Formats: sequence, structure tokens, C-alpha cells
Amino acid sequence: MNLGIAGKWALVCGASKGLGFGCAQALVREGVHVLIVARGAEALQLAASKLIADSDRPASATVQYVAADITTIEGRAAVFALRKDFDIVVTNAGGPPTGDFRDWDRDSWIKAVDANMLTPIELIKATVDGMAERGFGRVINITSSAVKAPIDILGLSNGARSGLTGFVAGVARSKLASRGVTLNNLLPGKFDTDRLASTMGAAAQKTGKSLDDIRQAQAAQIPAQRFGTAEEFGAICAFLCSVQAGYMTGQNVLADGGAYPGTF
Ligand SMILES: NC(=O)c1ccc[n+]([C@@H]2O[C@H](COP(=O)([O-])OP(=O)(O)OC[C@H]3O[C@@H](n4cnc5c(N)ncnc54)[C@H](OP(=O)(O)O)[C@@H]3O)[C@@H](O)[C@H]2O)c1
Repeated sequence: MNLGIAGKWALVCGASKGLGFGCAQALVREGVHVLIVARGAEALQLAASKLIADSDRPASATVQYVAADITTIEGRAAVFALRKDFDIVVTNAGGPPTGDFRDWDRDSWIKAVDANMLTPIELIKATVDGMAERGFGRVINITSSAVKAPIDILGLSNGARSGLTGFVAGVARSKLASRGVTLNNLLPGKFDTDRLASTMGAAAQKTGKSLDDIRQAQAAQIPAQRFGTAEEFGAICAFLCSVQAGYMTGQNVLADGGAYPGTF
């Protein structure tokens, strides 16, 4: 299917690896120009080289990168200094740490809210009016299945991402909707990325079980009996960015191999 977005410009945050990289790769394969962002310059440069070397990339699709912390004012300024107008914005940064809410002070909460709620809101604020003027725009926020099915040790994530979800639900239904701009959230369940490996590593340490046992036990709880891949996640993101998805806005799209047990 031709997604109709070749030649558009996308900002993809948190894209040196994992789900962000998957989104960037899927968009580049559709002929979208991408600007990818992450903090670590070396891994980011490597990711850009991989995207450029991808044999499925149309030669017309360009790849740029900026090493920046997207959760800071300076980081976002560095991105927008390179390019102001984006047709597609994929918001993403690392998830907050796990833990017991009794141990989190105000600072822990401010960091989580900054990274997982206020940063996407700032990126939306900086880009959607330009999208509306041009008559096309797509914002995809990478959030978490924890928004639909909260996990106790992920309290910082549950809280901050729910704030973003409420905000997006309102903005998506504003006048932007009649001007070709859609905003949707993409909710990953368990995907095989470094983030998942590190949470499983922590579980292995805590329980004394082997990493393999933890992996198998966690995969066994998912109806699909496996973790998702960044490539699968990226394909869903690219579809949400497509011309064909123009009538879909304000949605929370869950990709979790069937793990969420509800009908809706
Ligand atoms: N994987 C899963 O199963 C899963 C499940 C639910 C939710 N999620 C959420 O989905 C998001 C992506 O997860 P992932 O698994 O792809 O993580 P990942 O493999 O750890 O990759 C995170 C990416 O974001 C970049 N990044 C982190 N903090 C950043 C910042 N402040 N500014 C710019 N870039 C930043 C990282 O590079 P640098 O560190 O170099 O900046 C890296 O490129 C996270 O918010 C995570 O909590 C993931």
C-alpha cells in the first residue's frame, strides 16, 4: 500500500534504537525525510548510517540527525534550529524508572512529567499550527500499554503518560481536526528493545532467576507468546502517519500481542 507520505518531513525523537528507530526506519522506507534525535551521539550517528544504508530506502528520502536531550529547552531549540516545519512528529524519550511511590520525591515526579508529558506537549505546540497551515500533519506519541492497564511499579509512567493522554484527547478534537492534522498515541506492550532487556535484567537480579527464565515467563503471559519487534511497531506508526489514516484522531492504539484482557 502506498501511504502517500513520500517527501514529507518527520521529526522522530528517541530514535537511535528501539521503538523510535523502528518508526524512523518505517517512515524512511515510505520515502519520508527524517530528522532523528537521541542524546548519545555515537549511537545516533550509527542509527543514521543504518537508515541511509537501508536497501528499502528510496534514494529521495534524506536522513538528518541531532544529538540532543529532547526533554530540555536547549535540546528542542537545537532540533528546531535545524528545521522548523515538520509534517510528522513522533514524540518519544526514555521511560521513567520503576519503583515504589513512597520513595519518589517531588523531583522524581517533575522529571517524569517533564519527559513523558510536557516534552510531547511542547513539541506539539511548536509544530501543529504549521501543519494546519499546510493542511496536513501527524503527531504520534509513543506512550505505553500502562496507560490502559497501569502497572504498580510504573507509577511515574502511569501518572505522567495519563496526563499526556488527556491533553492529546482534547487537542485532537480541536479545530486542528478539520485542517488535516491528526494526533494519536501508540501504546506499546512488551517489545524486544534495550529498555525491555534492562527491566528484565532488574527483575532477574531481584528474584535471583536467570534472564532466560524471566524472558520465557514474561513471553508466556502474552497471548502471542512472544515480544513485539521494533519493525512491527514502526509499521503501525507509519500507517498512523499515512494519508489513509486521515480520519483517525485522538485514539490510543494498543500494540501488545493481545496482552490487554479487555474488550475495549
Ligand atoms: N519496549 C517496550 O516494551 C516498552 C513498553 C512500554 C513502553 N515503552 C516506552 O516506549 C518508549 C521507547 O522505549 P524503547 O523500548 O524503544 O526504549 P530504548 O530501547 O531504551 O530506546 C530509547 C531511545 O530514546 C532515546 N532517548 C532516551 N531519552 C532521551 C532524551 N531525553 N532525549 C532524546 N532521546 C532520548 C535513547 O537514546 P539516548 O539514551 O542516547 O538518548 C534511545 O534512542 C519509552 O518511553 C518506553 O518507556 C516501551
